[in-house]
Amino acid sequence: MRKVKDQAAVVYSVNRSTKMPFWNEIVCGDSADLLKLIPANSIDLVITSPPYFQQREYDGGGVGNEEKPHEYISALMEIFCECVRVIKPTGSIVLNIGDKYEDSSLLLMPYRFALAVTEQCGVKLVNNITWVKSNPTPRQFKRRLVSSTEPFFHFVKSQEYKYFLDEFLKPIEEPKTNNNDIGTGENIGKKYFLLIEQSKLTPKQKGMARNALEEVIGEVRNGEIQGFRMKIRGIHSEPFGGQEGGRKIQLDKNGFTIIRIYGNPLKKDVIITPVESLKNCPHPAIYPIKIVEEFIKLLTQKGDIILDPFVGSGSTAVAAFQSERIYIGFDISEEYCLYAQKRLSSVRHQLSLWEKNNANT
Ligand SMILES: C[S@@+](CC[C@H](N)C(=O)[O-])C[C@H]1O[C@@H](n2cnc3c(N)ncnc32)[C@H](O)[C@@H]1O
Repeated sequence: MRKVKDQAAVVYSVNRSTKMPFWNEIVCGDSADLLKLIPANSIDLVITSPPYFQQREYDGGGVGNEEKPHEYISALMEIFCECVRVIKPTGSIVLNIGDKYEDSSLLLMPYRFALAVTEQCGVKLVNNITWVKSNPTPRQFKRRLVSSTEPFFHFVKSQEYKYFLDEFLKPIEEPKTNNNDIGTGENIGKKYFLLIEQSKLTPKQKGMARNALEEVIGEVRNGEIQGFRMKIRGIHSEPFGGQEGGRKIQLDKNGFTIIRIYGNPLKKDVIITPVESLKNCPHPAIYPIKIVEEFIKLLTQKGDIILDPFVGSGSTAVAAFQSERIYIGFDISEEYCLYAQKRLSSVRHQLSLWEKNNANT
């Protein structure tokens, strides 16, 4: 672990080096200083969770315990604006902050912050993604509900930002095909052939319907589409309204219509996952690796550089390493930096054991 108490102590010359400073390093120091050592337009993704307003005392101090909300926002904004400087035009910043009650009233800190930075740091807010905690802290309140969500804001500094939508939430939202309706294997679409014969379509229309059905069955078999539905006049319910050339008109004119199902799952601005805890971890507020991994897949490619200026227990660095990206992690606390580094070594060790085992089998 590198320890940097002030900028001058860094013996690193960015100009002399072909590499970025701090590649795959956890560095102990104040991000307000360390970020100044990172060249402009050099980072692909900043993903981070800064200390929430007056939530807890972290080892090492830093941002979070300012007296007034606006002081907290200014302190955080200083670091955020540096993050904007260091990301590439194709880069993104993903930032998670929780809220705070003061005098029985929510302060709406995340939204105050998001408003301030969109107005003053030259960023656009692409999405407010809601993390739904499936296991929120089970505190019982008599006169309010348990908070079980937190925002993850996705900011960009240009419209050129990298975006890999197909990769987002892939494993848990695989397209669900209800192919039972159209049958499987040799039986695909069989029921529609029968229905065409039973229908009152003209012989010409029946021929067209059979040809169209064979074509679409071929598309399912080749994997071009996930499935389809066919509507035949007089057999199925009619679609409502529609435009010139729409389904209703096809049904009137041809006697049938085919609806192709492409199976692209809707990518929604919600991630549902439990709050994480790590055995023997000294850090009191870690965020789930699963969420970080989703943003890494959505916004970066293998080999890209990911920076977390409040890396804490190292969750971002672990997710980046496991996703074959380069990480840079800053934290003001020496204890957390040491822990993050140990956590990374253990992940590296497990990976090498796994690779060894796989090579032997
Ligand atoms: C909410 S925690 C981050 C936790 C992290 N996401 C994880 O999963 O472990 C915020 C971290 O910011 C660090 N911190 C606070 N002010 C800082 C500053 N000015 N520079 C660097 N780190 C700072 C704290 O020590 C704390 O570890």
